[in-house]
Amino acid sequence: MTGYEVLAEVYEWLISDAKLPPAEFAASFDDVLNLLPSNAHVLDCSCGTGQLAVGLAGRGMQVVATDASEAMVRRTAELSEEFGASVRAVRANWEELPDHFQDNTFDMVFCVGNSLHHAAGATGRGAALESMSRLLRPGGRLVLTSRTWELVRARGSRLEISDRLVRRNGRDAVVVYRWEIARHWEEEHHIEIAIAQVDATGLVLVRSELLSCWPYRYEELEVELHRVGLQTELSTFDLEAENYMVVASKV
Ligand SMILES: C[S@@+](CC[C@H](N)C(=O)[O-])C[C@H]1O[C@@H](n2cnc3c(N)ncnc32)[C@H](O)[C@@H]1O
Repeated sequence: MTGYEVLAEVYEWLISDAKLPPAEFAASFDDVLNLLPSNAHVLDCSCGTGQLAVGLAGRGMQVVATDASEAMVRRTAELSEEFGASVRAVRANWEELPDHFQDNTFDMVFCVGNSLHHAAGATGRGAALESMSRLLRPGGRLVLTSRTWELVRARGSRLEISDRLVRRNGRDAVVVYRWEIARHWEEEHHIEIAIAQVDATGLVLVRSELLSCWPYRYEELEVELHRVGLQTELSTFDLEAENYMVVASKV
């Protein structure tokens, strides 16, 4: 089960204000995007509602956006249409990517926004990274962002409730994360996310979904990247920061 079929409908409540406009989402990767020609071939392989893909297309890049969730792919196609962006949106999970695209196709592959932990354990993660690597041309780069699971696991199971209402599309919501941290790193973990929208009459409408995830240590990720022929060029990993970015190039 991949999930995000329900959350797709209300996903904007989970995106920060700063990253909601497609151009801003893409601009958050300016440092790596500046390494590419303006018409580069790029793939966002966990595109969610499409902000990054549409932002990249807005820069003139040839963009393909894929996601395991049908609902997410539909939202990406809708956002592309709204912005008049040319994005090819395809439903595919990571392991299926080589069935859709030839090896050595892309200059850059993005797997961002806390996506990779949805791959099922070390085996699933290895297969996902292998697919991403195959699709990159030699010298092409994988751009990956991740939660710092070392921090998340240290905090243990817990409930995290937003300390202010999040307003999107004229509607306010409380965002709740319920973290189910398993005893061992290798076990399946869960995150339950609930968006509780409150309307002007006080009525509360809740959309929620239970997601599976398999955490990994940064050290493991490095080894796994190298195993699929990717060499770390840049890493912002810091044990005290919530998230990090890794840029790895295909040898
Ligand atoms: C936390 S969302 C991030 C979405 C987007 N990248 C962003 O930053 O807003 C994780 C995304 O990964 C997708 N996903 C989960 N498992 C996947 C898989 N096996 N293959 C491809 N995409 C997957 C989900 O459907 C979801 O859209």
